[in-house]
Amino acid sequence: MLKIGFIGWRGMVGSVLMERMIQERDFHDYEAIFFTTSNIGGKGPDIGMSTPALQDAYDLDILASLDIAVTCQGSDYTKKIYPELKKRGWKGYWIDASSGLRMENDSIIVLDPVNRAVIDNGLKTGIKSYIGGNCTVSLMLMAIGGLFENNLVEWITSMTYQAASGAGANNMKELVAQMTAIGAINNPDLSAVELDRLITNEMRGKAFPIEFFGAPLAGSLIPWIDAALESGQTKEEWKGYAETNKILGTTTPIPVDGICVRVSAMRCHSQGLTIKLKKDAPLDELIEMIAGANDWVKVVPNDKPSTLAGLSPAAVSGTLTVPVGRIRKMKLGPEFLTAFTVGDQLLWGAAEPIRRILNIVIEHLS
Ligand code: HSE
Repeated sequence: MLKIGFIGWRGMVGSVLMERMIQERDFHDYEAIFFTTSNIGGKGPDIGMSTPALQDAYDLDILASLDIAVTCQGSDYTKKIYPELKKRGWKGYWIDASSGLRMENDSIIVLDPVNRAVIDNGLKTGIKSYIGGNCTVSLMLMAIGGLFENNLVEWITSMTYQAASGAGANNMKELVAQMTAIGAINNPDLSAVELDRLITNEMRGKAFPIEFFGAPLAGSLIPWIDAALESGQTKEEWKGYAETNKILGTTTPIPVDGICVRVSAMRCHSQGLTIKLKKDAPLDELIEMIAGANDWVKVVPNDKPSTLAGLSPAAVSGTLTVPVGRIRKMKLGPEFLTAFTVGDQLLWGAAEPIRRILNIVIEHLS
């Protein structure tokens, strides 16, 4: 029986992964071992079957006995533990939601509805590390994978509207605290201009909670995500190009760039795309390609009622659907297509590709 270890299952991505695995009845026919960094000997999650007491996530002997390790613990853990396991000659599979090994030559970024062929080839050629992609990149590829599949994309700019969840659980809580502080000012007797003045004062005041974001997000936005790079991009913006091309396994890289912006959505990332096509193609054919690429993408008609009903974080949060709408040719020319897409950052953006690659690796080993 396969021995599969789960590390970091209590954090935000880890708990969404557990939720999805339980929903899909994924826990069967293997020995599931849960690890901890703080509660050794404690009780694991309720997964509908008995599991041993929690094991030490830093115990290399136990880790090295696993056939598959699934971690949502974060990059620092990966960077510490993975090389140690490799040094011991560990031959198991490493499935990781963090970015620690993402760009390594001997790792594959997993998004199987888009790059199943790349994954299958990796399994065949003995690749052992399978890493979840950056959420924005994965969600963009889930949305318009059909255009890449048909080799129609010359370049893309993606202007993002990224949710608080991408920055972490503390940031989600801080966003709500900011909303609460603003909400406390509400007074229907005041004019809109008076209300705005009070809210702006509150946002600029010392008491406004900005410990995690470093700036107000509620009632505002932050056009900076992750570290600065020499190129003038942020690291999040750099990932658009690097990871898209790695996921697709392109031989001639497709340029992808844009500005990544944090907005006050809770857990859905949105993106406004400008796509330069390699050639002009009729809009209905392009829409058909987009809609047919996978089981989760859903084309939203380019009209106001459909857009308001289905193309927003409020409509998509907690679902696996990846709507893409506002699709039209641009005034820039017939080869320029625009679209807007939304996706749950914790599902297709993080936990779901990990859940699915685990099943693919299990199938490969069976
Ligand atoms: N880096 C992303 C963000 C989330 O900050 O929204 C993880 O892919």
